[in-house]
Amino acid sequence: MNIPSRLEAKKRTSKEVLTKTNEYIVDNNLKTLGEGKTYFIKTYGCQMNEHDSENIKAILEDMSFTECDEMEKADLILLNTCAIRENAHNKVFGMIGRIKHLKETRPEVIAGICGCMAQEEGVVNEILTNYKWLDIVFGTHNIYALPNILATSMKNNKQEIDVLSIEGDIIENIPVKRDSKYKAWVNIMYGCDKFCTYCIVPYTRGKQRSREPEYIIKEVLDLVNSGYKEVTLLGQNVNAYGKDLDTNYGMANLLEDVAKTGIDRVRFVTSHPWDFNDEMIDVIKKYDNIMPYIHLPLQSGSDRILKLMGRRYTKESYLELFNKLKTIPNVSITTDIIVGFPGETEEDFNETLDVVNICKYDSAFTFIFSPREGTPAAKMEDNVTLEEKNNRLYRLNDLINKYAKEANDKYLNKTVPVLIEGKSEKGGLLMGYTDTMKLVNVNAPKSNIGKIVNVKITDIKTWSMDGEIVK
Ligand code: SAH
Ligand code: SF4
Ligand code: F3S
Repeated sequence: MNIPSRLEAKKRTSKEVLTKTNEYIVDNNLKTLGEGKTYFIKTYGCQMNEHDSENIKAILEDMSFTECDEMEKADLILLNTCAIRENAHNKVFGMIGRIKHLKETRPEVIAGICGCMAQEEGVVNEILTNYKWLDIVFGTHNIYALPNILATSMKNNKQEIDVLSIEGDIIENIPVKRDSKYKAWVNIMYGCDKFCTYCIVPYTRGKQRSREPEYIIKEVLDLVNSGYKEVTLLGQNVNAYGKDLDTNYGMANLLEDVAKTGIDRVRFVTSHPWDFNDEMIDVIKKYDNIMPYIHLPLQSGSDRILKLMGRRYTKESYLELFNKLKTIPNVSITTDIIVGFPGETEEDFNETLDVVNICKYDSAFTFIFSPREGTPAAKMEDNVTLEEKNNRLYRLNDLINKYAKEANDKYLNKTVPVLIEGKSEKGGLLMGYTDTMKLVNVNAPKSNIGKIVNVKITDIKTWSMDGEIVK
């Protein structure tokens, strides 16, 4: 049994990170372990977790499990969890309750949790005392070890907890079962060293480790050859890519090399304003296949709060960067904002509104500060009432929605490129995203799925647009 320790997770060692290509092995006797059995994975959290689930699916299929889309019918249930805010936690514990119920009628069901919550000391302690019936718990650092973890639990019919506190090397040969045939997530780095004072990610994902560029480029080239149209380069802080490698190769170089593979669309998330340099902006402008869409988290517009958050930029330097990004033709910019950080005053909040009024974002994710155990902000004195926090969130969303609508309105009667991904939730229509990341529903034949087509926008809705294909 390996259980996580917060103290260990916080450490940043200077141990060299190696790239290993032979770490993932499924022993011959485990290749049929899942024969006749189905699995169901529920994924919470960010794109990195989505992509981890694509790896987990492929690993389970290497053991002969088959995918099932109904939790109630599955033989193996995994929750790939997120720890970013309290409500993410609550959702998972609610689901664990449902699984317990299921296990009462079908005790042979194997149930487990993985992902960021599994990396938390407090969560694992709770599992050890109150959820002894959960079969497996593994973390974000040892997904490749799933075959052995699962086999040990099944063989001994016992709870198997295997969570490493400290990240290991980069494992390059993990298989993947992608959710889409047209767009793909590609990890370019793992972990985060920014330690924003409110954030749990540096504890759950370990220190920043960039993948070697050769492996990233090879993955993208393979995707191009398999007919993929779009890649999204993933990292908690992609602009810092390469800073931990012993070379001068950074995000601008990587973006350029990925663009040169000829893939139709290149995206990247998430950008921390701190490391966004002019070189990157030049590369984005130079290549038509790098999409004019940038997610640039603000968090707060108040210098005082930004300092308490440990974000290392000011309102002024953020706006300076924002204005430079606006010189990218046709660019759309979105953001993340936290309201109700400990001690946030009405004045601080007004600074945030001021930035929103200047930037007029295309859209934004907005959150109420949620204290995460073990982070510095969780210990800061917080005299803002929940009522006030809710009120600020409401006022902020009002403004965000106004600008989002204004940004969308500009698309009416324009013709824009859309990668058609599949059927829309709206009956009979197809759906896809513009280069600028706007969701469009299109009335067109299914033969367009997987293609980038020109769409004339005919109607603007609150969260989407309607359009028709033009030649
Ligand atoms: N790496 C990204 C953010 C990843 S987390 C970045 O630095 O930009 C996604 C968003 O969740 C953050 O941008 C932040 O707005 C929000 N968030 C993170 N921790 C939070 C917390 N403790 N309470 C509320 N929101 C939080
Ligand atoms: Fe969290 Fe900050 Fe790292 Fe983003 S950059 S993952 S907010 S610590
Ligand atoms: Fe959540 Fe972990 Fe992503 S905490 S946001 S799943 S890195």
